[in-house]
Order: sequence, then structure tokens, then C-alpha cells
Amino acid sequence: MKVAALTPKQRAAWWALQNHVMVICDGAVRSGKSWGADHAFVDFAMHGPPGNLLLAGKTQDTVRRNIIDPMIDIFGGAVCRHNRGTREFYIDGRRVYVVGANDERSQERIRGVTLVGAYVDEASTVPESFWTMLRSRLSSEGARMIATTNPDSPQHWLKRRWLDKADELDIARFSFRLEDNAANLPASFVEGIKREFAGLWRKRFIEGLWVAAEGAVYDMLDLDTHVVDELPNIGTWWLLIDYGTATVTHALLAGIGADERLYVAREWRWDAHETHRQLTDAEYSQRLRDWIETGADGVWLLNGKPAPVPVRMAIIDPSAASFYAQLRRDGWVRPRDGENDVLDGIRYTASLLSAGRLRIHRSCQHLLRELSGYVWDPKAQERGTDAPLKADDHGCDALRYGCYTLRRHTRRWIASTAKEAA
Ligand SMILES: Nc1ncnc2c1ncn2[C@@H]1O[C@H](COP(=O)(O)OP(=O)(O)OP(=O)(O)O)[C@@H](O)[C@H]1O
Ligand SMILES: [Mg+2]
Repeated sequence: MKVAALTPKQRAAWWALQNHVMVICDGAVRSGKSWGADHAFVDFAMHGPPGNLLLAGKTQDTVRRNIIDPMIDIFGGAVCRHNRGTREFYIDGRRVYVVGANDERSQERIRGVTLVGAYVDEASTVPESFWTMLRSRLSSEGARMIATTNPDSPQHWLKRRWLDKADELDIARFSFRLEDNAANLPASFVEGIKREFAGLWRKRFIEGLWVAAEGAVYDMLDLDTHVVDELPNIGTWWLLIDYGTATVTHALLAGIGADERLYVAREWRWDAHETHRQLTDAEYSQRLRDWIETGADGVWLLNGKPAPVPVRMAIIDPSAASFYAQLRRDGWVRPRDGENDVLDGIRYTASLLSAGRLRIHRSCQHLLRELSGYVWDPKAQERGTDAPLKADDHGCDALRYGCYTLRRHTRRWIASTAKEAA
């Protein structure tokens, strides 16, 4: 093992694994946590006591992307071998179980096994029950566990019940900062990711702090810079729709401008409470179609010119199955289910805003009002989870899963793709 290739903090973590059952590396993105843990774990697999080994993370895919592929790059196919078909992974000929732990039932997958070594990627994303079960499986002499994580809420189980009790539980904790990895990151890249994260995420992912999600979700929203009166040339349009029969249906017309920004150009909204009238799926489809074809005032005016808006796709609320079926039947626009991971979606939208890659036309008054009032839920925070308060958020939802689902078109504008891709 070429220990010389490690930064001082990585070397300290590697060294700590020789005499602590548990080592946790927390801190900033790209700060070298995984690289250090990869070396420590491969070294353990090659020289540690015999027994079963396990790699865990949110899903098998994230483990492959975050750990297995980089390990193969670093140590070569002779040391780290992955069979994609059977999903078996071997380090130095030793079988390593790969487990995705994204729900409360995942702990059942490891119940009963005895392990000698485990490596958990992005530990804050696995359920506490899985983590506790995993710890109880490491009972044999010389057993070791190493984990990496970005900071989360200060009330998160990993922080409160493990990191805060590191001394008591004999956990070696290493908090990584971006500067720890400065030698391996181009300065321009570091500048780029600092720009990309704002507000809550800057504190957690750049400064490496376990801070609460409090106050405004989009505290980087700046009406002077993010709101525009003019639109550039836009080639491809999408409709982003949050759907509700008894409440509000909010549609946003969005497109990518010639200046490489995502624009929300217009909005359409139906409030069943205010109008005392619920629309059927067929009526929604028809009204949206009329709106797209003729615009709000009978003719589409974008930048003062009539503009045909050929919409490539409608990205809709993934729970709106009946409306999806209606759009399929009507055939005027192709529907697609939006990706509804709330926190990933919010973070991605926030990154677009911070990077100056998302603009909203001044006519979208409902959306702008909602975005300005969109706040974190203090009750969720007490439970150690981040969640936005669910109130007056239909446009926010449409924007979130629109931005996130369209990330294939926009992610090259953002420096670090590591986090949003998970
Ligand atoms: N000792 C090293 N020598 C050479 N390159 C390194 C070293 N440590 C880290 N790197 C490089 O820095 C990049 C970031 O490191 P790493 O993936 O370990 O960060 P991380 O803290 O796990 O980040 P994230 O929170 O985003 O998962 C890696 O792509 C790797 O190429
Ligand atoms: Mg990592």
C-alpha cells in the first residue's frame, strides 16, 4: 500500500483503523474522505483477519459509482474485481458483499451474518436501523468498520448517537475540509464548487458543518438577478406540471436559452379552492393545450413577438397517474414522470440558482411568491430530517422535479456532478 499517496488526514484515518473498531470520516465534498477510506478498506481486506466483508451505501448503484469503480481505477482490476452481471465484488480474491440500504427493511439483509470488515459510503443516507444492525454484526476479533459522510442535520441520528459520542464509543472521527485535499484539486474546480453550493449546502458541503435546515429553502434566491423581463432565444420547451384535482395545478413553461441557462418563461395555474371548481383530467389537458397553443391572451407573446412554443415533453407529478394517462390519450404532448426525490431535487435547483443558471420571468408571480416563502419545516428538523414545509408549494414542486428531471441537459453547467447524480 502506497501510504505516501495519502494526505495527512487520510493517512491518520487509515492509521486509526488499525486500532479502532470504527472510523468515521465526515466533512466537505471532494475533501478526500472516500479516497482515504478506499485505501484503508482495501488494505484491511488484504492484510486484516479472515472473515466476511461488506460494502454498503444508499443503493447498489451509488456504491458502484462512489466506491467500486474508483477502487478499480485506483488499485487495478487485478486487486479489485467486479462482476457486473452477478454484482459480485472481490478485493484481492476476497468476496465483498455489496448492499444497498435505502429503506427500513434493508437491515434484514444483514441479519444473522458475521462480518469482519465493513465500509459504509455516505453513511447519513442509510437508515439508523441498518447501521445499528451492521455494528452488531462486527463481533469477531479484529473486526473493523469505516464510513464516510457529508454533514446533515445536527439532530441526525449519526451525529447525535454516534459522532457526538465518539470518545465514549471508541470511534475515531476525522472531519475533512476542502483544504485537506487542496493538493489534489485544481483551484478552478474548488472555486467552481464553492459557487455551486449556497445557503444550507454551503455550510454543510463546503464548510463541513452539521447545521440545521432552518428558514428559507432558497435563501440564495435574489429577485434582482434571478428574475428577468427579457427572454433569450429558446429552442426546446418543456412543461413542468404539479397536479392536484382538489387543490392547485401549477404548470411552468420552461426552456433552455441560447445563453445556456434554464428559463421559466410563463406559468399557468388553476386553484380549485379559489374558483370553487374542480377540473377533470380531460379539462386540464384541454386548457393546458389551449394555453400552449394560443397563450394567455389569445396569442403567445415572448419578448413582444408571437412565439410558437413546440413543447417537447410534459414533466409531471409522478403521483398523477390518471392525468398522465389522459395526456397519453390526448397525444398533444408526451408526458414523463418527474423524478421526485425531494431533497436531491431541491439541492439541484438551489445549485442552478447559485450558479446563475436558472432564471424566472417576471410574469411568473405565483411561482416567485411561493419560492420566496418556501421554508424548512422545523418539526422535521427536530426529528433529524430535512423537509420543506408543505404549504403553498405547487409551483416549487413543479420547478423542483422539472429541474431535477432535466438535469441531463443542465448538469454540465455545474462544476461538481458527484452529489446530484446520486
Ligand atoms: N491522496 C490523493 N491523491 C490523489 N488524488 C486524490 C487523493 N485524495 C483525493 N483525491 C482526489 O480528490 C477527489 C475527491 O476525493 P474523494 O472522492 O475522496 O472526496 P470525498 O470527500 O469522498 O467527496 P464526496 O463528499 O463528494 O464523496 C477524488 O476524485 C480523487 O481523485
Ligand atoms: Mg465520497
